[in-house]
Amino acid sequence: MTNHKTRIAVFCSGTGSNFEAIFNHIKNKRLNAEIALCLSNRAQCGAMEFAKHNGISTVQISEKQFESFDDFAFAMIKCLKDQNIDNVLLAGYMRKVPEAVVTAFPDKILNIHPALLPKFGGEGMYGIHVHSAVISAGETESGATVHFVNEEYDKGRILLQRKVPVLADDTPETLAARVLECEHRLYPEAVEKMLSEQQS
Ligand code: GRF
Repeated sequence: MTNHKTRIAVFCSGTGSNFEAIFNHIKNKRLNAEIALCLSNRAQCGAMEFAKHNGISTVQISEKQFESFDDFAFAMIKCLKDQNIDNVLLAGYMRKVPEAVVTAFPDKILNIHPALLPKFGGEGMYGIHVHSAVISAGETESGATVHFVNEEYDKGRILLQRKVPVLADDTPETLAARVLECEHRLYPEAVEKMLSEQQS
């Protein structure tokens, strides 16, 4: 058991409801961790606002700010290393994490996906597209998956997964809302699981 407080960076692009759920869980359960940084490709979004209101450092890093993708990846790694970040959580981050970042943080980056991977994952499978595909395929169950991030979209080792029913009269929007509610419980649990594995 180490006394080191795990320093977490959350990468977001949108509302940030998962970020908020994880933040509250860490605070309420007094886990030996802190969210030290909110990184976004967008200057403004719900997640960035939430971070600012809660005294969490924020940084906007976008490919557009750099001459090359390598420069972008290097800046991202430098930012994470400068802040002594141990783990990264992707929570509604709408960009692919550069391979160099994945290599610099092996088995340290988690993502949440709003379906039961390995089904309904991969490029193009994000947001409402996922739920539309699940309904079109006639699935009776969907859910959420927290997995480690590797070089391939949605292919890293699964850490936790939970099911929700798909109802006969579901629209992509009603299914999305049910899955998101599930995500808010699942992601904090997955973070706790990762921390206990790392800290033991
Ligand atoms: C979630 O459904 C997550 O699975 C997906 O993007 C959504 C993010 O929502 N990757 P929020 O920004 O956490 O509210």
